[in-house]
Amino acid sequence: MPTRRANAVLPTCKENGSVLDFDTVDIYARGNTMLKGRSLIEPDNFSLEETENLFTLAGKIESDENYLRDSCRGKLLATLFFEPSTRTRLSFEAAILRLGGSCLGFADPGSSSASKGESLADTIRMAASYADAIVMRSPKEGAALLASRYSQVPVLNAGDGGHHHPTQTLTDLFTIRCLRGEIANLTVGFCGDLKFGRTVHSLAKALARYANIRVIFISPEELVIPEYIAATLQRQGVEFAETRNLEEAMPELDVLYMTRVQKERFFNEEDYIRLKDSFVLNAERMTLGKGNLVVLHPLPRVNEIAVEVDADPRAAYFKQARYGMYARMALLASILGVAE
Ligand code: CP
Repeated sequence: MPTRRANAVLPTCKENGSVLDFDTVDIYARGNTMLKGRSLIEPDNFSLEETENLFTLAGKIESDENYLRDSCRGKLLATLFFEPSTRTRLSFEAAILRLGGSCLGFADPGSSSASKGESLADTIRMAASYADAIVMRSPKEGAALLASRYSQVPVLNAGDGGHHHPTQTLTDLFTIRCLRGEIANLTVGFCGDLKFGRTVHSLAKALARYANIRVIFISPEELVIPEYIAATLQRQGVEFAETRNLEEAMPELDVLYMTRVQKERFFNEEDYIRLKDSFVLNAERMTLGKGNLVVLHPLPRVNEIAVEVDADPRAAYFKQARYGMYARMALLASILGVAE
């Protein structure tokens, strides 16, 4: 029988500074030049040490919003979004503006010359000749990698089809680090559309590099985790299980990563309608979770988390979206070479 557990209030990075001990490594003084000029296409493009350095920097920015303020004055970021976005585009724009830089770009490919048939390669050549870095989202898997081959400036993959979303992974890992104190010794449940959910693919792959991570994949049969991600976990010795039952998994989880069913990747609407509400996290199901469970969601949500869950102190998805801005500020400052 499931047991009820008391809810715990999740600390913020600021509140939890002593656990994270951001001051032990002064990345600003020490320099984070390793990432200068680098693209980020998949989460493991940066080493574990480089990724951890980014989180140290993001933690400093979160603790002191004036940290690195204006450090990117004169730098231009191009945001090229061939697919809709709220958080990723706006948080990147907020990040560069808070760092004192500027941005240009488009949120709708219909307003760009892509709608006249211009190739991605030519679009990227243009953006790279105007800006110091490019953030791009595309419905096509591999588009960001292709773009990086035509660009003289760093390309940051803001999502390529159902493949990867590595800056969301920086957001997710930074959130876990802030709220749990470390990214290790955790059982992480991924629930929902694990087939098309690019944030799941990137985060699962990234978590496999940390110590003593256990993963439980919770999905309908038709939306299971792709074989190449399962193979990566197997290769890296990560213990994982697959289930169709959220209630059964709940008591075991330290982190629950909910995802929406990705309507835009389905070939037929009937399948989407049949699968869209396969898993709904509500207040009753939350009673099955640990008191210090962290519930994440890359957002946007549709129905998979009931609004009543928002009031539960373990619901961390809006906090997570704000942490994404700090993670992206750290990323931009590093790839633009100002964090030195
Ligand atoms: N998490 C995320 O990628 O959200 P957006 O689609 O709103 O950018």
